[in-house]
Amino acid sequence: MTTALITGSTAGIGAAFARRLAADGHNLVLVARDTKRLREQATELHDRHGVEAEVLTADLATERGIGSVEERLGDKRSPVDLLVNNAGFGHKGAYLDVPMADELTMLKVHCEAVLRLTTAATRVMRDRGRGGVVNVASVAAFVPRGTYGASKAWVVQFTQGAARDLAGSGVRLMALCPGFVRTEFHERAGMGTDNIPKWMWLDADKLVTAALADLHRGRTLSVPDPRYKALMGVVKLTPRALLGGVSSKAGRKYGPKH
Ligand SMILES: NC(=O)c1ccc[n+]([C@@H]2O[C@H](COP(=O)([O-])OP(=O)(O)OC[C@H]3O[C@@H](n4cnc5c(N)ncnc54)[C@H](OP(=O)(O)O)[C@@H]3O)[C@@H](O)[C@H]2O)c1
Repeated sequence: MTTALITGSTAGIGAAFARRLAADGHNLVLVARDTKRLREQATELHDRHGVEAEVLTADLATERGIGSVEERLGDKRSPVDLLVNNAGFGHKGAYLDVPMADELTMLKVHCEAVLRLTTAATRVMRDRGRGGVVNVASVAAFVPRGTYGASKAWVVQFTQGAARDLAGSGVRLMALCPGFVRTEFHERAGMGTDNIPKWMWLDADKLVTAALADLHRGRTLSVPDPRYKALMGVVKLTPRALLGGVSSKAGRKYGPKH
């Protein structure tokens, strides 16, 4: 039996990964900040699928939280076969409307935690000659979309570069780039979603099925829906100035100055 560690497992895309991986018979290490919710999730997945589900409460915006997950990933007696770096959040508002402390928290969760957890996991995986890492980025990585998009662009670049360096080691890395997914993300950030057309919304369970198929195929980048694959094709051909005008507004609530 293999073990998967998922950060941000209690809601949205992370919860969909947990459901799918448990259904496929993987033991789980579930990571988020809310211990009660983690315990309920672990019990439910264990009862439904008969897998072991460990709970690891950690705030990935803190040194202590990142350190505790690094330690678990470095435990060679109970190795992790698949790491899903999924925990993340959005900001309400455009650049200069967001407090610097919140910007730095985003960099800590989206970049520093992803770097450190990927490194802790892949060191052990490389020694074992097998393993996989899915780093959840976003299609926002490819368009001008504030500091959120910038942090996700870092995730894509980092993941594809590390995948290249580890090619032939048996360790696979993939950046997953979803479009809009119905989760708690927008509500938590206090973002309005009225201006997002219905056809742009993706289902988290279908997204995860497509993502795991892409990982299995050895892709280092996954944009797992035909609608967004087509959109990304258009993005490549569109001047960035024009792109910025559209992409920076969709799904973001602006402050009074905008
Ligand atoms: N939804 C979208 O439209 C969309 C699109 C593209 C990419 N994404 C990306 O997908 C990932 C998952 O987002 P989602 O939409 O599933 O969001 P979500 O429904 O809000 O879930 C976020 C999860 O992350 C955990 N989390 C948040 N901050 C954390 C922290 N500091 N430390 C540990 N865990 C933390 C939350 O649990 P606790 O609160 O208990 O910690 C929760 O389990 C994110 O990286 C996001 O950027 C989302």
